[in-house]
Amino acid sequence: MMTEPNHKRGLWKTRMGFILAASGSAVGLGNVWKFPYITGQNGGGAFVLVYLICIAVVGLPIMLAEFTVGRKTNLNPVGAFQQLKPGTLWVGIGFMGVLAGFLILSFYGVVGGWTLAYVVKSLTLSMEQFTSPTAAGALFDSFIANTGQVILYHALFMGLTMAIVIKGVHGGIEKACDILMPTLVVMLVILMIRALTLDGAMEGVKFYLYPDFSKLNGQVVLLAMGQAFFSLSLGMGAMITYGSYLPGKENLTSATLYVVLFDTLIALLMGMVIFPAVFAMGLEPTGGPGLVFSVLPAVFSGMPFGWIVSIIFFGLLAIAALTSAISLLEVVVAYFIDQKKWGRKKAVLVMGGVIFALGIPSGLSEGLLKDFKLFGMTFFENIDNIASNYLLPIGGMLTAVFVGWVWGTKPAHQEIERHETPFHWAAYWEFVIRYVAPVAVAMVFLTQFFATG
Ligand code: PFF
Repeated sequence: MMTEPNHKRGLWKTRMGFILAASGSAVGLGNVWKFPYITGQNGGGAFVLVYLICIAVVGLPIMLAEFTVGRKTNLNPVGAFQQLKPGTLWVGIGFMGVLAGFLILSFYGVVGGWTLAYVVKSLTLSMEQFTSPTAAGALFDSFIANTGQVILYHALFMGLTMAIVIKGVHGGIEKACDILMPTLVVMLVILMIRALTLDGAMEGVKFYLYPDFSKLNGQVVLLAMGQAFFSLSLGMGAMITYGSYLPGKENLTSATLYVVLFDTLIALLMGMVIFPAVFAMGLEPTGGPGLVFSVLPAVFSGMPFGWIVSIIFFGLLAIAALTSAISLLEVVVAYFIDQKKWGRKKAVLVMGGVIFALGIPSGLSEGLLKDFKLFGMTFFENIDNIASNYLLPIGGMLTAVFVGWVWGTKPAHQEIERHETPFHWAAYWEFVIRYVAPVAVAMVFLTQFFATG
């Protein structure tokens, strides 16, 4: 029996709108901010290679699985698992997803706030003077230690996210993504050309593309896998939620391919911007979360019309962050709307507010709470670590097991081919979703467990 979509919840208007919104969720700080700095800290090329393998054998099949569960049920993650296997523990995957969305958005909003602050700094020209990366780094360090500013921009970013989510699926989310995503690509290509033509850029290209396998260990593989889940927005039901606003006739398999390719392209392009620039300026690639914020202003200030490029770049980064943040909030909000029968406005205001409050200690992690560490990590790093490296991969693995073995690939396959959309790589998908994806994630955890004793 086919369930027809519940139009009252909201629906995507066009096929392109859905693909861009899902890409908007995938492409964000994960690609532009996190990918370069984790790659830099974990050996460059070898990390990139493991990351790409994770995308192909784990990310791609799980994304299709999430879209399928979403469109089949037209529900939030909790409701979706509940509908397919009522009253079982599998519903727990949905709850884990809502929790992950909650935790991720709390620190994501902080970094989103940093990007907004950098748009303002570019507009007021206060970055033009930073001809050296050391000066740009000092500006960044003093900014993130400034409690008032960090919280102000964090609040602004969360406010914008909430304003778009209140407007709902088509009017808010889809419209915003339509224009923003294509502009981002053009901008990155311009920056890449600039970075590659700097003196000494080739050293960076080598670090980025040449895999030095001696740098690989269990921890690096876990991070690469966590990053694959984070970057593709998988493992917490964001793609279930976005799939739930789809009319039946959408071709899920090609949508999955587009979103995965687009997300990977943006991350790879961003590496091609950052590493040539880092090496050309004689910096260390291991600079951590401040990497993008301290390297790029220095690149911009040495460019003709650099301040305009800077405004556009940080503007786009803020927007890319926003289109991801809306999907994080949408997961939490959809749960309260579907399961708890709250109105959209109430769900957004209450949950957005609580998430903002939880984000405050993350925002202060580089300032007032710098020395407040647990397991050797700041509050910010702990939340990021729990959500990105554990909740998402575990959620993704359980989703794969659920679709591959519990709900079953047959009904999933039927759902994918609804309205006669052809599924050319069905055999590959069925194999990886049942065997490869769950085993790969489990193995990475086991290796990690034995490696750390
Ligand atoms: N994929 C986003 C990024 O790369 O920035 C982050 C994210 C959004 C993760 C939504 C998870 C999610 F559900």
